[in-house]
Amino acid sequence: MTKISDRIYSVGVNDDDKVLFEGLWPLPYGVSYNSYLVVDEKVALIDTVECGFEEEFLSNINDAIGGRDIDYLVVNHMEPDHSSLVAYMLETYPGLQIIANAKTVPMLKGYYGTPEERITVVGEGSSLSLGGCTLNFSLIPMVHWPETMVTWLAEENTLFSGDAFGTFGAVAEEVVDADGTFEQYKDEMTRYYACIVGKYGTPVQTALKKLSGLEIKRICSTHGPVWEQNIPQVVSLYDKMSRYEVERGVCIVYGSMYGNTAAAADALALELEARGIPYAIHDLAGNNAGELGLSGALRDVFKYDTIIVGSPTYNNGIFPPVETFMKALQARLIKGRRFYAFGSYTWSGASVSQLNALASAMGFELLGDGLSFAQAYTKEKVDMAAVADMI
Ligand code: FEO
Repeated sequence: MTKISDRIYSVGVNDDDKVLFEGLWPLPYGVSYNSYLVVDEKVALIDTVECGFEEEFLSNINDAIGGRDIDYLVVNHMEPDHSSLVAYMLETYPGLQIIANAKTVPMLKGYYGTPEERITVVGEGSSLSLGGCTLNFSLIPMVHWPETMVTWLAEENTLFSGDAFGTFGAVAEEVVDADGTFEQYKDEMTRYYACIVGKYGTPVQTALKKLSGLEIKRICSTHGPVWEQNIPQVVSLYDKMSRYEVERGVCIVYGSMYGNTAAAADALALELEARGIPYAIHDLAGNNAGELGLSGALRDVFKYDTIIVGSPTYNNGIFPPVETFMKALQARLIKGRRFYAFGSYTWSGASVSQLNALASAMGFELLGDGLSFAQAYTKEKVDMAAVADMI
């Protein structure tokens, strides 16, 4: 538990054991499920934490308010990493009333069988007085689910933002940021955005415009630190990512069965290095994939303006891990990128032309026809210097 202000307490938990967030995304630095208490004449809890942390969660709450009851549970977001203790909290606090919007209600019933009489429905612009201060509610659909809303506490200039401005990575005991916290989390915030929210650039832009009139001095997201010192950097990064804005540089993504496409990828990396062009390189094939796997590649797609993809021809098509990557780009509506494809084949090349077709369908600028080479990689046969010269 951390006291954030006279009224606000952070009562969330860190999860250092979960291996894959949403069953998909690696968590080498853990993740936090944040929950906040606003304590006034009435007490409101904003979101819960994932099930499995009941004891620690209740202990945090008791450290903050002792034996006081919680009057309201505001459900900003229904994804179970934040809502899976809803039923438990209703049972633990028999007088507790859930505050939720109309899109949240059927999800509450469907997930947890929440009785209607325990729910108070709010909508855009609704408010809830806690006595000395007031919570205001605003809908930000698709950031990250259709029901998502934020809660604004004007008396504290504090935005309880749901997943918006969230990041992977557990938080320190002192959850409020300091100088340098943004730099510490920037890569994990980018990876979180790329994996979780990346499809919803337009809704994020809509939400940012909607929130731009608020004089925000504190952001309490559902994941990561409480932001006070680094708000301009955090908002600017989300703004940039949701506009698909990137820096000059190359994200090399490849898979390889017998090392020939990998050798071409490594040769390209060396050529980029020699030219001083920023780049990242990601091998997606099986055990060779780094600890971040696909999520690392997606993170760097949100960093760099050029995507260069290597795939051998497999079953007359694209090597499956690379095809998954291309589908992940499609799902995230990635746009405004330059693209190049390469890869080896044994008797008939198909991967490069199919990669180009997918890239064209996404509106990417093709830097050339691609480089499809037969059998083994050799420096003489496969001119990756010429590819680097096009960047
Ligand atoms: Fe952290 Fe969309 O839940």
